Amino acid sequence: MNRKYRKTVIAGNWKMNMLASEIKPFMEELKANLPKARTCEMVLCVPGVMVPAMVKAGKDCKVAAGGEDVSCFEKGAYTGEVSASQLADVGAKYCIVGHSERRQYHGEDDMLVNAKARALLDKGIMPIICVGESLEQRESNLTMEYVAYQVKAALSGIDASQLRRCVIAYEPIWAIGTGKTATAEQAQEVCEGIRAVIRGIYGARPARAVSILYGGSMNAKNAYELLAQPDIDGGLIGGASLKPVDFATIIKATDQG
Ligand code: PGA
Repeated sequence: MNRKYRKTVIAGNWKMNMLASEIKPFMEELKANLPKARTCEMVLCVPGVMVPAMVKAGKDCKVAAGGEDVSCFEKGAYTGEVSASQLADVGAKYCIVGHSERRQYHGEDDMLVNAKARALLDKGIMPIICVGESLEQRESNLTMEYVAYQVKAALSGIDASQLRRCVIAYEPIWAIGTGKTATAEQAQEVCEGIRAVIRGIYGARPARAVSILYGGSMNAKNAYELLAQPDIDGGLIGGASLKPVDFATIIKATDQG
């Protein structure tokens, strides 16, 4: 983390778990475990239908609500889709795009991820843009090349003022939901590489200001060490964000130095 230059973000990704009716008790337990002084921005990304309940329940302890996906289209005949303006209208502040599960199960490619990020920015929602390599790519030493490509594609056509409202999440696919976390060194190396790619496009200042999160089996035990890395500005947390005590512990781990 480097709180002098950029914000620290701890974002949960509930995926297709929990019910809207479980949000209130979750928040009560979270609140009871949160530190008084906040050293990070807290976000919980939930299925679109649960965003209004999260907005309501999150107000009290300043947890922002986020979506997990968005349509790249503005409006119209796209049955089943949720638009950026619909998310904004119910109070979403953030939205994940390009999660590897969307890329894998819904065939989302880099162009679509870029279109979704731009659709969100147009409506004032901050995209959390996910990138990350497969195990095969890592073992073939293609990690940085692949991740750099994903970052460039996702940010295509996004200018420096819009970049300030983007968050990047580095999520190695082999670490998601597997209990296999990247080591702090591995995660730092790629996050530093991502910042260098952004520096190459936008210059030093915007690159210094962008928050880059790590995601992939981050939990209450390993969060402190990961967050101690200079280029890891927070976490995108799946499994551990479903447990209020663990999520609060990760939030507390941002209070370093
Ligand atoms: P995980 O999920 O923390 O359960 O590995 C992270 C994510 O998919 O965003």
